[in-house]
Amino acid sequence: MDKEKILVLLKKSSSFPSLPSEVIDIFEKLEYPLELEIDEFKSQIKKYGNLNEVILDVVNSNYFSLQRKVNTLGQAIKFLGMKTMKEVIVAILLKSLFPKRLGRSEEFDRKKYWEHCVGTALASNEIAKKINHPYGNQFFFKILIHDIGVLALDVCMPDLLDEIYSLAKEKEISLLEAEAQMMNGATHCDIGSWLCKRWKIPSDVAKIIRHHHKPKINDLRTKIVHLGDVISGNYYQRILGIEKDYNQFKQEIIDSININEKTLDKISSNLQSKIKNIKENYNLNLLDYNKFIGDVVL
Ligand SMILES: [Fe+2]
Ligand SMILES: [Fe+2]
Repeated sequence: MDKEKILVLLKKSSSFPSLPSEVIDIFEKLEYPLELEIDEFKSQIKKYGNLNEVILDVVNSNYFSLQRKVNTLGQAIKFLGMKTMKEVIVAILLKSLFPKRLGRSEEFDRKKYWEHCVGTALASNEIAKKINHPYGNQFFFKILIHDIGVLALDVCMPDLLDEIYSLAKEKEISLLEAEAQMMNGATHCDIGSWLCKRWKIPSDVAKIIRHHHKPKINDLRTKIVHLGDVISGNYYQRILGIEKDYNQFKQEIIDSININEKTLDKISSNLQSKIKNIKENYNLNLLDYNKFIGDVVL
């Protein structure tokens, strides 16, 4: 099946989530987070289901380890800054649109997939720290949703996703290769890219969703995510029981960001315990997304 056909089927799928107008407005505002009118934005968030509470839960989670509990969105913005808040909000909203209960694929395991997403965010942050990238921990949340295209398949085209996972397991090939075989060269990035356009997802988040497998040479953040994704993708394949590596580091990317393979290997060997730490000690999984927001499955 080729890319155009998949996109037509996605568009036609009765399971494809409709984007609430409140979310459209929030995405639009967050395109330029430093220019938005804070009071207006706060009341917009409050009007949308339990989003305000969910945001505060995330902000008060162990991930941020703030010195004191944050009780209002205004305080959260003050402590974390609008750029980080933007990431948190976009990640919560996007993930909520493809909740676990709507997933229909039998071969796809959301728990393991979510471990991969967390792992990619952790590995990317480690790389960012090693190269003294100024954003450091700031871009954890937007990386959590880098593979949103896979969730779209789980909800709208579960049979295709089943076939991709079965093929990878049967033939001991990487998921990327299996995707390419089943989708005539297309990948979950193409699906994610289409989604970003359709939903006008803020452009910096969209860039990562679109290009994390083939980052542009001048896009440092996506290059970091690419390397983090290779590390965590290999971890993912292992927990799925597939011996083959998910992807290889691209040498020109390693060279261009001034990191060596030894450092990447070290990040890779520490990843499993870091993910375990997040699972055991962070309350990212304790969020009540049930009102309108998708289940977090960590
Ligand atoms: Fe990916
Ligand atoms: Fe990934």
